[in-house]
Amino acid sequence: MRQKIVAGNWKMNGTIAETENLLRELLAGKLNNQNVKVVVCPPYTSLHVASKILNGSHIALGAQNMSEHARGAYTGEISPEMLLTAGVLYVILGHSERRQYHAETDQLVNAKVKLALQTGLIPIICVGELLSEREEGRTETVVGKQVAGTLSGLTAEALNKVVIAYEPVWAIGTGKTATPQMAQEVHAFIRDRLMAIDKTTAGKVPILYGGSVKPDNALGLHRQPDIDGSLVGGASLKADDFMAIINAV
Ligand code: 13P
Repeated sequence: MRQKIVAGNWKMNGTIAETENLLRELLAGKLNNQNVKVVVCPPYTSLHVASKILNGSHIALGAQNMSEHARGAYTGEISPEMLLTAGVLYVILGHSERRQYHAETDQLVNAKVKLALQTGLIPIICVGELLSEREEGRTETVVGKQVAGTLSGLTAEALNKVVIAYEPVWAIGTGKTATPQMAQEVHAFIRDRLMAIDKTTAGKVPILYGGSVKPDNALGLHRQPDIDGSLVGGASLKADDFMAIINAV
C-alpha cells in the first residue's frame, strides 16, 4: 500500500509565535488514522523552533524550497544540508508560485530534486497546468513535460524516494477545486508517466492533490484510487480545518 500523506504548505505565513501556537494546536488534535503521514512546511525562519516542538511527535517537518547548490556564495539561499540539520525531512520543490514569480524551470527543479535526494531529503515535486492550458486541452502535454523534466535522470531507487503533488494552478488559492474525477484522471496519467521510468516503482510513489483542498471536499478527493493525500495551502493554517482534512484520508 502506498504511503498516505497530508502536507500543509504555510507559504509566507507564520511568525515564530504563530508557528508555536499552530503546532501546539495540531499536536493536541485527534488523529483518527495512524497510517497517514502528516507534514507541515512553515517558512524558513520557523523551522528550527518547529523542529523542537515536533521532535518525537507524529508530525514531520518540511521546507518550501531550497537552493540547487550545496553551499557557497549564493546570498539569500538556503542549502539542503541547512534544512536537514534544522530537523527538516521533506522539501517542496517546483511549486507553481516559485515557477511563476521566480522563473523556476523544470531543469532547475530537476537539479534541486537530485541534490535533495543526495542530501537525504524527500522532495515533494509540484506539477500542474494553467487554466489557459487546460482550456486548450493541453493538460496532459504540460504535466507530462513537467514530470519528465523534473524527474530526468532519476534511477528507480531515487524515484522510490520522491513524492509528487499535482496542483492545477487555476485551483490554487481560488476556491475552485478540481472535481475528484478531474484530479483522478491527471493522477492516473502521472502514474502512467512514472511507469516510463520504472514500472514497479511507479505504483509506490505517493501522488498528492493540491488546490483549494478544504474539509468539505477532502474526502471525495482522497477516495480516488490514485490520490494518495493532499498538499494543503490556506486550510493548513487553521488547526481544525487541517485536522479535518487529515482525518478525511
Ligand atoms: P490552497 O490550498 O490555498 O489553494 O494552496 C494550495 C497550494 O498551493 C499548496 O501548495
